Order: sequence, then structure tokens, then C-alpha cells
Amino acid sequence: SGAIKTITDGTLTMSTNAEFEPFEYRDNDKIVGIDVEIANKIADKLGLELKINDVEFASLIMELQTNKCDFVAAGMTATDDRRKNVDFSDPYFDASQAIIVPKGSNIKSRTDLNGKNVGVQQGTTGDTFCTNEDGTSDIKVASVKRYNKGSDAISDLINGRIDAVVIDNFPATKFVQKNSDKLVKLDDSLTSEQYAIAVQKGNTALLDQIDEVLKEMKSSGELDQIIEKYQSS
Ligand code: ARG
Repeated sequence: SGAIKTITDGTLTMSTNAEFEPFEYRDNDKIVGIDVEIANKIADKLGLELKINDVEFASLIMELQTNKCDFVAAGMTATDDRRKNVDFSDPYFDASQAIIVPKGSNIKSRTDLNGKNVGVQQGTTGDTFCTNEDGTSDIKVASVKRYNKGSDAISDLINGRIDAVVIDNFPATKFVQKNSDKLVKLDDSLTSEQYAIAVQKGNTALLDQIDEVLKEMKSSGELDQIIEKYQSS
């Protein structure tokens, strides 16, 4: 593995995929969200200016491996597979894969996904679950359509091109809120996951600082407040 990226210009660089409200998304072209607020805290602590790279979700690990960024904050689930290539901070959010269907769909529970055509965001844990890449899934869908953006999967769902979208629960709630006349989120979920911030393997100096910030934000109640703010907006 290569050398760890050094910071020379006063800039702390985060890579993300800003298609994931409320964790990172564009509001009037500005990237905002829960992860951005955490990232700003990290930059403040280090006395550095935060810069954000917005790339496809599936290239985020490579961003770290090729020294394009110092860390990845992207509602990224800490998985064993990813741990082969990056180190993760302490977890900061519990998540699951949710199922979104059109109103009136005959998909009422997780097992109803068997034999259905499902849309996912490429390279996500929802993608892994539906394609059963790691062999742990109990559901056999008919097909998986992979999208670069969750919003494109939602458009295809509304237009009847797929039967369901599998995506993380909090973004799922946001998508359904915006299309509440057409879509519903099922009560059943598919996985149990934890989000964490990723750094280059072996970058313990940065990882320790990030864990410090997360610990402070958890114990002060600030993290909960931020999450609540995005829940109600
Ligand atoms: N939690 C899921 C994963 O780690 C999805 C994350 C998608 N994040 C994003 N910014 N688009 O695979």
C-alpha cells in the first residue's frame, strides 16, 4: 500500500457523493448535510479549511487509495469488505436498508421482494444485499438495476420501470416525503449497518482526531441535535 497523504496547503479534503439527503446533498449548489457538519467539526479541530470532492459513490474508496482526499464521509457503512482497503472511525449512525414501493404495490414485506425487479445505488450495501454478492442475503430478486444516483432509481420506480428501490432508511424517508402521493416505505428493513468515516489504511493520526471529534459530538448531544434538525427539515 502507498504512502499516506500529507496535508501541505491548509486544506482538509473530504470525498463524498452528494446524492444522499440528509447526509450529503446539494442545496442551491452548496453541499450540506449531517456528514458535512461533522466534517466541518473535524476541520475546525485541526485548524484546516474543509474542501469537498463530489464523486460517484462507487469511486470513494479509490479516492482514498489514490491520495485524492484525507477522508470519506458519505453515509458509508463500515463493512468487513471495505475494511480490507480503508480504516473506519467509530460508528456515528445506525442504519438499515429500506424498501420503497409505489403506493398499492403487492410488495408488502421483505420476502415479497423475491422475484421482483429492484433498483439500487451502485456500489452500496443495498447493491450488495440485492445482488447477494457476499452470499448472506435471504432474498432472491429477479434483477438488480444499478443507478449512479438514488434519485434516478426513484424516478424509474415512479415511472414503473422497476418494482422497488432498496436504499438506506434515512434517505428513503426523504425520498418518500418528497413523493408521498406516489411512494411508500415499508416497515420491514433488510440489513443492520453502521455508518463510519473512512481514512487511508494506517492513517491513525487522522483517525484518532476524527474519533475524538465524534466522541465530543456524541457526549455533548450535538450529534443528536444535528440528526434531529435534518429529521424535521
Ligand atoms: N450506506 C450505504 C453504503 O455504505 C450507502 C451510502 C450511500 N452514500 C452516498 N453518499 N451516496 O453502501
